[in-house]
Amino acid sequence: MIHPIVYYAAGACALAVLYPALRARLQLSRAKHRSLAGHSRMARRFASVVPYYEYDAERFFRADAAPDDVAAARRDGFMRLAAVFTERFRETADLTDDIVDAVSDLQFTSRYRVPFQFSRFVREHFKAGVFLQSSSGVTVTDMDGNRFYDLTGSYGVNLFGYDFYKECIARGSERVRDLGPVLGAYHPITTYNVRRLLEISGLEEISFHMSGTEAVMQAVRLARYHTGRSHLVRFCGAYHGWWGDVQPGVGNPIAPGETYTLQEMDDAAIKVLRTRRDVACVLVNPLQALHPNISAPGDSTLVDSGRSAHFDRAAYSTWLGKLREVCSERGIVLIFDEVFVGFRLSLGGAQEYFGVKADMVTYGKSVAGGLPVGVLCGRRQFMRRFRDDRPADICFARGTFNSHPYVMGAMSEFLKRIDSEPVHGLYRDLDTVWNLRAQALNERLQSAQLPVRVANLSSIWTICYQQPSRYNWMFQYYLRAAGLALSWVGTGRLIFSLNYTDADFSDVCDAMVSAAHAMQEDGWWWASPRLTNKSIRRGVLKEMLQARWLSPIGSMSSPRMR
Ligand SMILES: Cc1ncc(COP(=O)(O)O)c(C=O)c1O
Repeated sequence: MIHPIVYYAAGACALAVLYPALRARLQLSRAKHRSLAGHSRMARRFASVVPYYEYDAERFFRADAAPDDVAAARRDGFMRLAAVFTERFRETADLTDDIVDAVSDLQFTSRYRVPFQFSRFVREHFKAGVFLQSSSGVTVTDMDGNRFYDLTGSYGVNLFGYDFYKECIARGSERVRDLGPVLGAYHPITTYNVRRLLEISGLEEISFHMSGTEAVMQAVRLARYHTGRSHLVRFCGAYHGWWGDVQPGVGNPIAPGETYTLQEMDDAAIKVLRTRRDVACVLVNPLQALHPNISAPGDSTLVDSGRSAHFDRAAYSTWLGKLREVCSERGIVLIFDEVFVGFRLSLGGAQEYFGVKADMVTYGKSVAGGLPVGVLCGRRQFMRRFRDDRPADICFARGTFNSHPYVMGAMSEFLKRIDSEPVHGLYRDLDTVWNLRAQALNERLQSAQLPVRVANLSSIWTICYQQPSRYNWMFQYYLRAAGLALSWVGTGRLIFSLNYTDADFSDVCDAMVSAAHAMQEDGWWWASPRLTNKSIRRGVLKEMLQARWLSPIGSMSSPRMR
């Protein structure tokens, strides 16, 4: 018989072995954000069980149980707006219809403009199309000749106005024309780009890629290579391109095994970085300073009015400082992903703006003067792809089109122009200008008693809604009819170029206020004491459960039910 003390001893040994692992696991759990976005696996599981259902023509207008007169006003407004779309955007819509069934990208974006329950009905009635024929100043013109103020910012690329980029591309192409599209070798113009980008980033080596996604991939790969550690840390909600390892949640069919998603601006995350031994790098997207831990806001997820945003520069600088400290202490590579915000917040990018130095920085979007690019700058010790003492142990990265002469040409124009006085002028008082503009618009919206406000990180804006509603996503269509071009995420993100004058901006404000008035008059923001964000979310959850498990209620339908 084995003496009980042996069991105790074995238990104590097992505990001693398991305790650190359990503690580390607990620490990791504590450092996750409470939301689904903070729990990638759970989010993917949840997404896989959300059933499709849609509202019929009756339910569409009273998903919030609004009374008959309100539903009738909404229907009238909707049909009136749909008629405006049909008449005004006919040619653009027809051209889009010609290709939409063959272009998967278009099918995706057109489907995810509004919450899915409303999507089909909206698509059937609002035909706007995706084609544009020209751009000029701060406007774009569609195939029907309608001019819109551009608030898409071309995904953030457009920082100085489209004419600026047309010139960068034209002049850049001229300068590299003799070499043309020769790849592998470098055009001599590249030397200027290398020098300037290293000066701007304050780092020692550089590599050129074809997209922001690739630059991020390479940064993480190098961090793993040099630290010998497996995991990357990203923060909840942050976008870093569509490479699998940086997109562990919904949207990626395979869950990456070596990514930790932690809560941003939270000391529990610092604790994880201080104690774990498997973290190679921390990826930061400073755009998240506008809405920490929340995914890029899009109108397709605008189920209620819970969207919020607020930028606190001092608090975010302090957070980055803490990250810098723990990364230095633990030999973790700190990567600033400035693909979006680089050059937008200041000439020296987010490092300069927040006063914190990173080990690696990625740039993209604007930096190639309007052509596709990704750039990685880093400290020499992290950028090397080989080891002097172990020649077969390399970190491979290539790319057919990297350092393309035309891209390098447009980039050199971009970098030269941002050193000029007119561009320096745009950066002077940049935040003051955009904060005052946001404030002025909010004051107008408030005095007009409209339940809409804007929040901003410099020239990057988002629209928030002050009153519980299921229909905020309709605002994007009123804005379009008022002459404002938004990207497919709708009112979630408005991106201004810095060449907006006060007069341009005043026109945009007029359009926003009149669009909001029209939307209010059409009854979409009907309020009731029983309509709260919580009751809306609960109602939608109930519908989902009903669609999945029970027989359909009369006014909803789903393919399963038909
Ligand atoms: C912060 C950030 N990183 C990476 C990317 C990916 O860049 P690209 O679309 O050029 O691959 C983006 C794109 O929006 C981004 O905003």
